[in-house]
Amino acid sequence: MTVANFSLAGKVAIVTGGSRGIGRSIAVALAEAGADVCVAARKPEALEETVAAIKATGRKGIAVPTNVREAEGLQNLVTETKKQLGRIDILVNNAATNPQFGPIANLEERAWDAIMNTNVKSAWLLSKLVREAIKEHGEGGSIINVSSTGGLRASGGLGGYSVSKAAIIMLTQVCAKEWGTDGIRVNCIAPGLIKTEFSRALWDNEAILKNSLTQSPLRRIGDPDEMAGAVVYFASGASSFTTGQTLVLDGGGLA
Ligand SMILES: NC(=O)c1ccc[n+]([C@@H]2O[C@H](COP(=O)([O-])OP(=O)(O)OC[C@H]3O[C@@H](n4cnc5c(N)ncnc54)[C@H](OP(=O)(O)O)[C@@H]3O)[C@@H](O)[C@H]2O)c1
Repeated sequence: MTVANFSLAGKVAIVTGGSRGIGRSIAVALAEAGADVCVAARKPEALEETVAAIKATGRKGIAVPTNVREAEGLQNLVTETKKQLGRIDILVNNAATNPQFGPIANLEERAWDAIMNTNVKSAWLLSKLVREAIKEHGEGGSIINVSSTGGLRASGGLGGYSVSKAAIIMLTQVCAKEWGTDGIRVNCIAPGLIKTEFSRALWDNEAILKNSLTQSPLRRIGDPDEMAGAVVYFASGASSFTTGQTLVLDGGGLA
């Protein structure tokens, strides 16, 4: 018997936005820890590349092309995962968008709706569906949401996105409080600036990058792989007495 059990052997996970960036790293890390993994995003080709990386670990991997903004698509994601992988134990709500940079006063209503529907509503709807799937086997499970340091401190030019990421932190707390008796733990990670396509505008611009590095005790930005260990921890028995928490992974920027 292991004291701190990080193994996910026998578990099945869904990772939204699992085709690239942080979601891809999380999907592969969950597989390395022993889980079979379903990845969901819109573009099928990129999903297939992640599936190949999952299979290279020796675990089962499947792709279910999904737009998380569509409720029917979320239902299909859960149905297909159960059909192809047998059950669901772990959900990582990682997919998110930010279609417009700039002051919140200039944010278009369409962009606000896209942000809230993709980043918040989808996580709520999918969490409810996965809760039902976890209750079917009755062995408990773990939901991990991906917020941002922008959800804890207002980010310049990313106002609507920051509001959505603050909502994700509270969604984590509410679900943790209400679903603990179902054996479901709900936790959250809040990454700082991580080198992905999503954040290219922030690290490709020398002045913005310099400002970020000055504020960072580690004097660098993060790599997507550096987000995955915390998710494996929250998904596994190693964190069995932890729920409702948000772990900041920002190289100390908020310290
Ligand atoms: N990078 C950072 O600096 C940073 C910092 C803090 C928090 N985060 C958070 O980390 C998470 C991942 O971001 P990332 O940087 O890894 O971004 P990324 O590289 O752009 O990846 C985003 C993923 O989400 C998917 N996606 C986007 N919209 C979707 C939709 N409507 N339906 C289904 N899938 C969708 C994308 O695939 P498709 O386009 O094919 O759908 C892709 O797989 C997000 O929640 C983000 O807010 C990132």
